[in-house]
Parts: sequence; C-alpha cells; structure tokens
Amino acid sequence: MADDDPYRSPFHYDLEYADYDDDVPWYVDLARRAGGPVLELGCGTGRLTLPMAQAGATVHGVDASADMLTGLEAKLRGQPDAVRWRVRHERRDFRTIEGPARYPLVLLPFNTIHHCRDTADVKDVFGAIRRVLLPGGTFAMDCYLPWPELYARDPDQRYGERTWIDSRSGVPIDSWEQSSWDPVAQIHHVTYVYVPRGGQPHEVHLNLRMFYPQELRAAIAEAGWTIRHEAGDFRGKPLAPDATKLVLLLSP
Ligand SMILES: C[S@@+](CC[C@H](N)C(=O)[O-])C[C@H]1O[C@@H](n2cnc3c(N)ncnc32)[C@H](O)[C@@H]1O
Repeated sequence: MADDDPYRSPFHYDLEYADYDDDVPWYVDLARRAGGPVLELGCGTGRLTLPMAQAGATVHGVDASADMLTGLEAKLRGQPDAVRWRVRHERRDFRTIEGPARYPLVLLPFNTIHHCRDTADVKDVFGAIRRVLLPGGTFAMDCYLPWPELYARDPDQRYGERTWIDSRSGVPIDSWEQSSWDPVAQIHHVTYVYVPRGGQPHEVHLNLRMFYPQELRAAIAEAGWTIRHEAGDFRGKPLAPDATKLVLLLSP
C-alpha cells in the first residue's frame, strides 16, 4: 500500500474498534464449520482472524498494509502455539490472489469492499475469489449500505467527539470525525482525528466507495455468484429500508 496508507497505525485502528464485535460470532461460526482453511481478505490486525483461529480454524490472512500485519504479528506473539500455528498471513493486494482453488470459505469482512473504487475493482476481487474457492465453497462478506443521514453532515463540523485512554501510557486521547459525501463518485470521505493530550495529532483519511444494493447485486450476478443469504445484520434481520448493513453469503 502507498505512503498514504490510511491503515499505517494499527494502534489507532485497534483503539477505534476495540468495542466492536457484532460480526465476530457470525464469522467464527462460519470458520468453525468450513472444514478447511479460511481465507480472510483484508485481515488487518486480526480482529476476526484471532477469534477464528482460537475457535480451531486455520486462517490465511491477506492484507496490503505492512503496518496492519505488524499489528497482527504482535498479537499472535501473545497467543498459545496451537493458535499461532493456525494463522498464516501474506502482504498482498487481494485483487491479485491466485489459484489453485483450495479454500472452502473466503471472507471479505468488515466493510473492506469499500476500498474497491469502482465496479471494475469489485469485478477483479469477485473473480479472484472464484479462482481460489473450492467447488461448493462459500464467499461471505459484509458492508455498509449508503447512509443518507451521514451524508447530510456539515463537512466542517466535528462529530462523535470522545476521549479514549491510551492503555500503554494512561494518556487521554481526544478524538472526533469529519466527513463529506461525493454523490457522483459515491465516495464517503471520512477523517478520524486523534489528539493525545500534550502530543501530536494523528489523522486517518478513508475514502469509502459505497455501493447501492442493486449495483452490488448486478456485480455479483455478472461475476457468476448466487446470493444464498442476504440480511441487514448478523442476526439475520431482513434487509429493510432502515438497514445500514448488508450481510451476504454467496456461492459460485
Ligand atoms: C476495515 S479493515 C478490516 C480489518 C479486519 N478484517 C477487521 O475486521 O478488523 C480493512 C483492511 O483491508 C485492507 N485492504 C484495503 N484494501 C486492500 C487491498 N486492495 N488488498 C489487500 N488488503 C486491503 C486494509 O489494509 C485493512 O487492513
């Protein structure tokens, strides 16, 4: 990934998502029942990789960010041998993964598809996944749905102000987010700002390509996938106009 890698600080990533685990039981359950190695695209610092490996699954993680993988390695060092041995990771752009087909389960979890800039990118990823998936295998993913309430925000205003405590130093870190919406490119530009008291700010800039459900369904069909399960959350809530998430199980 380039110098402007938004994921260059695994510390801030883990701080932001320390309390988010809505998706963990769903992915762990799929991984436990996979019957073979699980490929996780965009594994990051292992928020999902570790619980899957702890539940007995063999997980191969792919991520483009060297820093996120360094964060994963640090967490793996604290794990028992049996868990550590079940995790392999590789620094790679997931659009370029290649066969042979050897995975019964491939995951593109936690909104990672929003890093695809256009439908051509999505086509590359969906095609790459088909090449490595075993016959009869499953591709599972989740993403945000377009969220008009967020796009109506004032780009100059701070939202979600809160204070974290740095567990290493005890220093409070003030944080907030700002965002703007480009309705033509369908990109939600989000900046997270973290300011440790008495220290230098750290900014994370994310450009998240949002997909309308009909657009994604068309890309799924074009790439030769069948939707086996489609829900508005990880508990199987039907996809309704108030949904903010899209959770999918696909078969080739
Ligand atoms: C939202 S994070 C998800 C991390 C982790 N799966 C989790 O659930 O916390 C997205 C991850 O995808 C990675 N990523 C983004 N684009 C990528 C690409 N083209 N190839 C490989 N990894 C990519 C980022 O580096 C980041 O670690």
